[in-house]
Amino acid sequence: MKRHLLFAAFVLFSALGYANISLYSPDKQLNLTFKVSEDGEPVYALSYKNKPVIKESKMGFHIQWSTPLAHDFTIVDATQNSVDHTWETVWGENRFIRNHYNELVVKLKQKETNRILLITFRLFNDGLGFRYDFPMQDNLLHFIIQEEITQFNLTGDHTAFWLPGDYDTNEYPTTISKLSEINQLIDKVREEPLAAKSFTPNLAIQTPLLLKSDNGLYINIHEAALVNFAAMQLNVDDLNFQLSAHLVPDFRGNKVYAQTGDRSPWRTIIVSDDARDILASNLILNLNEPCKIEDFSWIKPMKYIGVWWEYFTGGGSSWSYTKHQGIRIGETDYSKLTPSGKHGATTENVKYHIDFAAKHGFDAVLVEGWNEGWEDNVAFVKDEIYNFTKPYPDFDVKKLRQYASEKGIVLIMHHETTSAVISYERQLDTAFRFMVTHGYPAVKTGYVGPIIPRSEHHDGQWMVNHYNRVIEKAAEYKIMVNSHESVRPTGLCRTYPNWLAAESARGTEFESFRGNHPNHTTILPFTRLVGGPMDYTPGIFEGDLSIYGSNPAKLSSTLVKQLALYVIMYSPLQMAADLPVNYEKHPDAFQFIKDVAVDWDTTCILEAEPGDFITIARKARGKDEWFIGSITDEHARETVISFSFLKPGKQYELTLYADGDNAHWQDNPKSYSVKNMKITSKTKLKQKIAAGGGMSARIR
Ligand code: NOJ
Ligand code: CA
Repeated sequence: MKRHLLFAAFVLFSALGYANISLYSPDKQLNLTFKVSEDGEPVYALSYKNKPVIKESKMGFHIQWSTPLAHDFTIVDATQNSVDHTWETVWGENRFIRNHYNELVVKLKQKETNRILLITFRLFNDGLGFRYDFPMQDNLLHFIIQEEITQFNLTGDHTAFWLPGDYDTNEYPTTISKLSEINQLIDKVREEPLAAKSFTPNLAIQTPLLLKSDNGLYINIHEAALVNFAAMQLNVDDLNFQLSAHLVPDFRGNKVYAQTGDRSPWRTIIVSDDARDILASNLILNLNEPCKIEDFSWIKPMKYIGVWWEYFTGGGSSWSYTKHQGIRIGETDYSKLTPSGKHGATTENVKYHIDFAAKHGFDAVLVEGWNEGWEDNVAFVKDEIYNFTKPYPDFDVKKLRQYASEKGIVLIMHHETTSAVISYERQLDTAFRFMVTHGYPAVKTGYVGPIIPRSEHHDGQWMVNHYNRVIEKAAEYKIMVNSHESVRPTGLCRTYPNWLAAESARGTEFESFRGNHPNHTTILPFTRLVGGPMDYTPGIFEGDLSIYGSNPAKLSSTLVKQLALYVIMYSPLQMAADLPVNYEKHPDAFQFIKDVAVDWDTTCILEAEPGDFITIARKARGKDEWFIGSITDEHARETVISFSFLKPGKQYELTLYADGDNAHWQDNPKSYSVKNMKITSKTKLKQKIAAGGGMSARIR
């Protein structure tokens, strides 16, 4: 039902600069107002339960060699619309998702230039999304966006959970500080012992950004449906508590190459006074287009192991086949080179992993280091690094396919590009055809190091289009994708559910480099995961890497917390990342990883406070079986779980995986207990969680 507001009244009011349009969320708790200022600037504001969340904030764009699309506007039309329907996910945290919002579309005309800009606002019970449309028109065709003006004017000095701006990496630890402290801290945090290597430091901060106000309001700012646009970072004006869009540029400083008919991604603001609502929000998925893949029967959530962690432990295993450098792809004859004896992806080692996966009920085995080129993975200085159709001489593709399929296991291919993206694009079709020929249903892609073309950043428009192109092309070949070092997700997995997961944040690999803080996984679900599933690769049982050789690293978690992460860190693709031998030493704890589901009917967020703790219960898809995960930061705590989400009057068996009495992430991480008990929907369970620890449970 579309309601055209009084057109004449708007022209009159807006000409005077007074038009003020108001929109409520379906539950009336959120209110959006929109107007054009006396200078004709588009301005929006948002309130929650009658208190301001975003004060009057400007909107629009700076355009190269042209009048900004930012002032001198009148409102020429405004329409409102309500939508309420429920859709079914291909996979997800919930089988059904309600999409319920009120919408306002304003049509703005710039007086001097006659150019038209549309802004669409969608107000849900859990927040706001808005986007810009550049409709086809006589006075605008091709244009270059030099900056987006969108502001987020906050009401005070909120606590922010932030990553420093960087156009090329999001593998930073999160810093928690007041908004007013960000500008003083931003350079310092890049030098802290845990910091990631900065590629392209800048003074903005990254999204998804979580904020908490002094009076307990939680605000998440991000974007949805990032298509043909640069990712948005945020400038911080710490005197006025004002954030504003900072689009990732190319090396010319240009942000977006646009054409009329294009539109921006949605800018999203999720709001609640209950932290659990931020984790339960489906706003970003709802703002994405429905699934574009008609037959998605080939898309399957998976649990996998891999020839992977052995490259990180310091035990000597390597991706490359030889020690020879100066490889020329297509010219170097590997069969003439002497193997180093350290190569991980040998036929024998992969068979051993297939056996282990089959014995323990996994779906898949990832193999990294299978193809020619790893000896020379020098980012940026080399155009052609890898050959994606040439296995190393000691990796027998045909035999392994046969072996895996006899054991009911599929292999996941690895395409590390080391960011030689042009070379990857040239090979993409043949690479995917090679996968189809050899029975690989999924690929892990990787973008380590600076990008080729050398004018581009990881999070700029060109690379955004690359990641999306790979997903679409993979869908044509019925291939599922897990991308690493790609731009942080914006819910596109709804449209392309073959995009099973992305890393796009600091994952478990960092436990072997500089380490992760124990609060890391109590923050990621509020930030990175708001945009989509993360391939965090949990499940490290042996956290003391010094036992393998020279790496002194120690895991920032107890063993049981590693189990809980399978429930907390939602992904339809979950890895059991540790070495098989370490699972063999703890068969009772390993049983949880074997049992835990990767696809869900419903999700209940039981407890949550960013940076402190999270407890989640999820019902396995199509089964009367639940799993619980609970994690804490560096402080021990007690979790109290009420099982009211279970069917009343029914008895269930619960298997509890708990930290031992004296467990501690630093000096006693492997102490745990496993016990069974009977429960009903009325049971209450009090459970101690160790510092840096967790709790997990299976309920049948
Ligand atoms: C970084 C990825 O995150 C990691 O999973 C992978 O093993 C290495 N790059 C090598 O490709
Ligand atoms: Ca990575």
